[in-house]
Amino acid sequence: MRNLTVRLARRPTGMPGPETWSIADEPAPEPAEGEVLVEVKAISLDPAMRGWLNEGKSYIPPVGIGEVMRASGAGVVLHSRDPRWQPGDTVMGGLGVQRLACVRGQDLEAIDLAIAPFERWLGVLGIPGMTAWFGLFEVGAAKEGETVVVSSAAGAVGGLVVQLAKRHGCRVVGIAGGPQKCRLVTETFGADACIDYRAHAGLGPLRQALAAEVPGGVHVYFDNVGGEILEAVMSLLARRARVVICGAISGYNDFANIRGPRNYLNLLIQRARMEGFVVFDYAARYGEARAEIVKGLADGSITAREDVRDGLDSFPDVLPLLYTGGNFGKLVLRP
Ligand SMILES: NC(=O)c1ccc[n+]([C@@H]2O[C@H](COP(=O)([O-])OP(=O)(O)OC[C@H]3O[C@@H](n4cnc5c(N)ncnc54)[C@H](OP(=O)(O)O)[C@@H]3O)[C@@H](O)[C@H]2O)c1
Repeated sequence: MRNLTVRLARRPTGMPGPETWSIADEPAPEPAEGEVLVEVKAISLDPAMRGWLNEGKSYIPPVGIGEVMRASGAGVVLHSRDPRWQPGDTVMGGLGVQRLACVRGQDLEAIDLAIAPFERWLGVLGIPGMTAWFGLFEVGAAKEGETVVVSSAAGAVGGLVVQLAKRHGCRVVGIAGGPQKCRLVTETFGADACIDYRAHAGLGPLRQALAAEVPGGVHVYFDNVGGEILEAVMSLLARRARVVICGAISGYNDFANIRGPRNYLNLLIQRARMEGFVVFDYAARYGEARAEIVKGLADGSITAREDVRDGLDSFPDVLPLLYTGGNFGKLVLRP
């Protein structure tokens, strides 16, 4: 059996283009003692991938030149040299952008396909789902009766934030790009309103459109995008608001020019706080979040939406969709 890999060829400036990657047909890797060979069935494409391509320290080290691109994935065990795993077991973990992954057995987690297909374990039941749950309830401390605003509300994390906040009795206003995404956010995910930020471009128009939907101010802002949208929402905070910094995708392709919100003193005026988080810090408690999400999927009160693309060699063209808004739901590649 042969492997197909996507390796980092050179560090990009701006949007990663095809020259960033080298795609190669290679011999299948051989598992060493304690390792497992996994056939990758689904690869998670995440906005954070852009940050991993930059040199320098972040919350995890960058991907090295020549290394297989880092990615979460889900698949089937083909061969195991770890007694915990048998051929045929279904697993997820850091499998990379490739068809066959050789990984330490201790780094894999079992997944149950009777609960959800491979791609959903990378979406609402995976890192995006955990991010939505812990960001909203632990960092944002969202409570019944409060107004929650979430950006990239049609996305993997944002779409679940909308649904969880509604389940817990909040008024929810999404922000997303385009009428089709806004319909998804209100009609499918159940938000009370959704602002199309492309139709209200610029700080003033965006603020005005949002203000009409949050008459009592914003208690929790779940921020996935940063930039001007963050600044607009920060001008509408309620007393003791919580601004959850989950991500800032608007700046991921131009890190050097990211600017903070000029109106940050609204935190002082409103006795509000702003807090960032990394979901991995909650790993020991993922079961709490999964219990609610599995239940919601089973009774139909939570909708999962994935955008599944095919072909490992399409990775260079599919990854940029995250930064142009071309994905509808959790972006997954089937190798
Ligand atoms: N803190 C953590 O531990 C953690 C963990 C996982 C993910 N995250 C963060 O969560 C956020 C969402 O990730 P995801 O996986 O759910 O991705 P996603 O929302 O499914 O996809 C990315 C979306 O971002 C929006 N976007 C791109 N450029 C934008 C811009 N300039 N302005 C406004 N919106 C823009 C696009 O939607 P529109 O079409 O609506 O513009 C795009 O579809 C990211 O910031 C990611 O880094 C954080």
